[in-house]
Amino acid sequence: MIQPRDFLKKISPYKPGKPVEQVARELRLKGEIIKLASNENPLGPSPLATRAIRRALKEANLYPDDNCYYFKEKLAGRLGLEPENLFVANGSVEILPLAALAYLDPEHSAIVSEGAFIWFKIAVRIADGELIEVPMKNHTHDLKRMLKAIKKNTRLVYIANPNNPTGTMVTKDAADEFFKKIPDDILVIMDEAYYDYIDDPEYPDSFTYLRQGKNIVILRTFSKIYGLAGVRLGYGISSKETIANLAKLRISFNVNRLSQVAGMAALDDADHIKKGKAVNDAGKKYLYDAYEKLGLFYLPTYANFIFVDFGRDSQVVFEALQKHGVITRTIKEYGFPHALRITIGTEEQNRKLINVLKKVL
Ligand SMILES: Cc1ncc(COP(=O)(O)O)c(C=O)c1O
Repeated sequence: MIQPRDFLKKISPYKPGKPVEQVARELRLKGEIIKLASNENPLGPSPLATRAIRRALKEANLYPDDNCYYFKEKLAGRLGLEPENLFVANGSVEILPLAALAYLDPEHSAIVSEGAFIWFKIAVRIADGELIEVPMKNHTHDLKRMLKAIKKNTRLVYIANPNNPTGTMVTKDAADEFFKKIPDDILVIMDEAYYDYIDDPEYPDSFTYLRQGKNIVILRTFSKIYGLAGVRLGYGISSKETIANLAKLRISFNVNRLSQVAGMAALDDADHIKKGKAVNDAGKKYLYDAYEKLGLFYLPTYANFIFVDFGRDSQVVFEALQKHGVITRTIKEYGFPHALRITIGTEEQNRKLINVLKKVL
């Protein structure tokens, strides 16, 4: 039998939250099922984006623009950058292994926080790089400790801000200090998938570091507040040189025709973004209060999900919730066997979650 390369043995594939259809099939559930497992937008996609997709379907026989010219022009204009500063991706997660393949090999290492977004570790393993894991402090990336962990052979540092699954944020002060001290032969991947939910003045403006000439790739996505997770659209922001290097690893037509037009339309949908933020803020308040009343420990979140600790194997709670039609996410593989990561839903979904929780606990 043909044997794969050795490094593949170290890779465990990413396990996403279960789709509604799968849970209904497996548990033979008939009633309504709500999915609070993958930090999607509970309001659905931007209506402007769905209209644009419908129009673009007529040209589905034609390959998309490989360079995403119009999308990049529009996005660059919004961000005050040039199109050459952008890498458009089939979801921002696509860029994580590309950065590893571009800058790592078995002789070089990457630094990742222990409880960070798990794709960071998978990315390092895909490049067969050396993985250095650093413990968190108060469920947050410990940037001081991550700096100390840097070795001569370190080339990459991955940071999620806010982090998934903890929802915690690295502050501006901590990030300023980190970027002041980071050696200039190391690239920092700053994953800001939940950027649009934040309005805290302590949140660092990562563009500052880019402008200072630091080696940084900032990742953003249309999967969250824009509601386009199923369409797949994300992007990386960096220096023109770094973008050009990453682009050498890009597969042709990685961003399809529908994603490109949906992204452009969604950028104009200020109303949808405003509603998404308001629903998230209101849901956060309601859920904090409900978790407190239930005596559950939770982490205040900077994203659209909440890390809730049940003080016991959370698999049992996960399964009980699922039987009642509420899909959440266990995070054992992140090192949190007692917690669940639960997306903030609509008012109705949050109420159903809490009612079911009251029943099963
Ligand atoms: C921290 C983080 N980065 C990236 C992603 C993936 O985003 P995308 O859908 O753009 O690939 C997620 C998705 O949950 C995430 O939590």
